[in-house]
Order: sequence, then C-alpha cells, then structure tokens
Amino acid sequence: MWAFGDGHVGQSYLFERDGNLFESRVSYFGNLKALDFTPGRKLTDAKDLEQAMARPVTGSEVVRCFACHATASTINDKFERSAIIPGITCEACHGPGRNHVIAGEALLRGEAAKTEGTIFNPSTLTPSDAVDFCGSCHGTYWDVKLQGLAGKANIRAQPYRLEKSRCWGTKGDTRLTCVACHDPHQPLVRDSSSYDKNCLSCHVATASVKVTADHPGQVAR
Ligand code: HEC
Ligand code: HEC
Ligand code: HEC
Ligand code: HEC
Ligand code: HEC
Repeated sequence: MWAFGDGHVGQSYLFERDGNLFESRVSYFGNLKALDFTPGRKLTDAKDLEQAMARPVTGSEVVRCFACHATASTINDKFERSAIIPGITCEACHGPGRNHVIAGEALLRGEAAKTEGTIFNPSTLTPSDAVDFCGSCHGTYWDVKLQGLAGKANIRAQPYRLEKSRCWGTKGDTRLTCVACHDPHQPLVRDSSSYDKNCLSCHVATASVKVTADHPGQVAR
C-alpha cells in the first residue's frame, strides 16, 4: 500500500492486488480528522463491491502519480518500484546526484575533482522556465490551458494564476517566481504577512515613495 500526501489537505491510498494498482475511493482529510470520499472519485452507483472499493490505476497514470509524488520511480518510462524513494527528495529536483557526491567526497579528501556539471542547478533558469520547473509537478500554464480548466477549477493552479496576473507581465521577473516566495529547502511559511515584502519589492508601500518602472506603485495609492 502506498500513501500519497502528508495529509494536511488529504492523503490518498494506492494498493496492490494481483499485481495491479487500485486507488481507494476514500481519502484521509486532516481538517476532518477522518476518511471521506476522494474528490472526483465518489461512485453513487457501483456495479460491484470491487468498483465501490477502488478505482483501477493503470499504465501511464501509474507512472505520472509516482513521478510527481516520489523520487526515482521511473526508469525507461516505466514505473520501477525497486529504486523508489518516497516523497520529493533532493534528486527529484536536482536530478541524479551520484557523480556529484563522488566529486564532493574526493574534494573533501583533498584530491583533485570537478563538481561543475555533476548536478542540475535550477537557480540558472529564466523566470518562465523556473515557473515551468515547479509546474512540471504543480501544473504549468499550458497544462491548465490545454485541459480547458476555467473559473474556479484553476484557482489552485499556482503557475497559471501567477503567469496570468498583470504583475507577471510577458517575461516575468525573478522577484515573482515560485522560489521568490517559497524556499524549496524550508517548510512552507504559514505567516501570510511575511510575504508582504515580496509584493513590496515592486509595489511601493506609501504614496510618498518615488515611483519607478520597477515599482509601479499604482496599488498602494
Ligand atoms: C517532483 C515533483 C515536484 C516538483 C518538481 C515540485 N513540487 Fe512542490 N510539491 C509536490 C508535491 C507532490 C507536493 C505535495 C506534498 C505532499 O503533501 O505530499 C508539493 C508541495 C509543495 C508545497 C506545499 C508544502 C506544504 O507544506 O504544504 C509548496 C510550497 C511547493 N510544493 C512548492 C514548490 C516549488 C516552489 C517548486 C519549484 C522550485 C516545487 N514545489 C517543485 C511536488 C513537486
Ligand atoms: C502532475 C503531477 C501530479 C500527478 C500526476 C499527481 N499528483 Fe497528487 N499532487 C501533486 C501536487 C503538486 C500536489 C500539491 C498541490 C497543492 O497543494 O497545491 C498534489 C497533492 C496531492 C494530494 C494532497 C496532498 C496533501 O498535501 O494533503 C494527494 C492525496 C494526492 N496528490 C494524490 C495523488 C494520487 C493518488 C495521484 C495518482 C492517482 C496523484 N496525486 C497524481 C502533483 C501530482
Ligand atoms: C522542490 C524542488 C527542490 C528540492 C526538493 C530540493 N531543491 Fe535544492 N534547489 C531548488 C531550486 C529551485 C534551487 C534554486 C533556488 C534559487 O533560484 O534561489 C535550488 C538550489 C539549491 C542549492 C544552491 C545552488 C546555488 O547555486 O546556490 C543547493 C546547494 C541545493 N539546492 C541543494 C539541495 C539539497 C541538498 C536538497 C535535498 C535536501 C535539495 N536541494 C532539494 C529546488 C529543490
Ligand atoms: C508572492 C508570493 C508567492 C508566490 C510568487 C508563490 N506563492 Fe505559493 N503561497 C504563497 C502564500 C502566501 C501561501 C499560503 C501560505 C499559508 O498557508 O499561509 C502559498 C501556498 C502555496 C502552496 C500550499 C497550498 C496549500 O494549500 O497548502 C503551494 C503548493 C504553493 N504555494 C505553490 C506555489 C507555486 C508552485 C508557485 C509558483 C507558480 C508559487 N506558489 C508562487 C505565496 C506565494
Ligand atoms: C515583479 C514585480 C511585481 C511583484 C513582485 C508584484 N507585482 Fe503586482 N504588479 C506589477 C506590475 C508591473 C503591475 C501592473 C501595473 C500597471 O499596469 O499599472 C502590477 C499590478 C498589480 C495589481 C493591479 C492588478 C490589476 O488588474 O489592475 C495588483 C492588485 C497587484 N499588482 C498586487 C500585487 C500583490 C498582492 C503582490 C504580491 C503577492 C504583487 N502585486 C507583486 C508588478 C509586481
């Protein structure tokens, strides 16, 4: 059995039967401290007990579920449970790190070694690519467009909403990428006022502050 999600929103379960994977119809919800139907998975008219209990998950969907929720789960485009590391660990974002560690250990022993090119460093990405990078799991602008998710359905799609905002403009800005507000190496900051400085990096706080191209200021007035 595999548990997806840390449960503060919800936790869903995939289990195996006769070599096939099934998604349970119920999830655990942190707010309710109880099980309830998984959104979009409720069946009012199940054909049999099996259908009432779970939904079969097959083929590319298995690959995608694990690719977004675990590390090193895909080998040659196939789900490969032998190498899997649960959760989003360093290598889910930085790629395979073996050569990097070998080079680092050599340096620590005082031997000559090069670390350049041994690991992917996302800090070099342009603003749009940086958002697409997080969007590879959180959904990109085009994922939302191509699925035709309109209105309320895309409210939680952070990359789409960000790139649609007037703040983003056409090319974006490093002050407004996902990592400008979220350090992927730290827990999510829950104190919303601590994000104000990110908005104020472009929008001036008071009318007396000089307005520049980078600090349009319209909002504060
Ligand atoms: C390999 C897939 C993947 C990538 C790439 C990824 N995320 Fe996530 N992220 C997830 C999943 C899955 C969750 C939900 C985790 C859970 O509850 O198990 C998540 C959760 C989060 C959360 C909420 C954490 C919390 O405590 O509630 C934030 C914030 C976040 N990601 C930001 C980012 C940012 C910023 C980037 C880009 C630098 C990024 N993510 C890239 C898969 C990914
Ligand atoms: C395209 C990548 C992607 C795929 C495919 C995907 N997820 Fe997720 N899932 C995410 C991300 C990213 C989040 C966090 C979303 C947020 O908080 O905005 C998430 C959140 C969740 C949560 C809530 C986690 C929490 O923190 O409470 C559950 C449960 C979950 N996914 C289960 C599944 C299951 C089961 C599958 C396959 C049937 C699946 N997901 C497929 C990316 C994905
Ligand atoms: C959710 C994706 C994600 C995960 C997981 C993640 N990182 Fe990162 N990491 C990034 C991004 C994005 C950057 C670039 C940040 C920026 O642009 O400021 C980065 C930057 C770094 C840097 C700095 C590179 C520089 O140029 O200064 C180091 C070192 C690093 N990460 C190590 C780690 C280690 C070690 C882990 C596991 C404990 C880890 N990362 C997990 C996304 C991630
Ligand atoms: C201007 C700041 C800002 C930017 C840019 C930003 N976020 Fe957030 N994000 C927040 C705030 C504030 C919260 C709410 C934190 C809380 O729970 O109090 C949040 C919450 C989240 C969560 C957790 C949602 C949940 O229900 O637990 C995820 C996932 C997330 N952001 C992903 C992203 C991604 C992906 C991007 C880039 C497309 C992004 N964010 C860009 C400020 C930002
Ligand atoms: C990278 C710079 C930048 C950052 C960071 C930024 N903005 Fe903006 N914002 C802009 C620009 C540029 C405009 C368009 C101004 C104009 O057209 O007059 C704008 C416009 C707006 C508007 C007016 C929207 C409309 O449709 O008229 C609001 C509201 C706003 N921003 C709020 C915020 C908030 C809240 C934050 C933090 C979460 C934020 N901005 C962060 C640059 C930024």
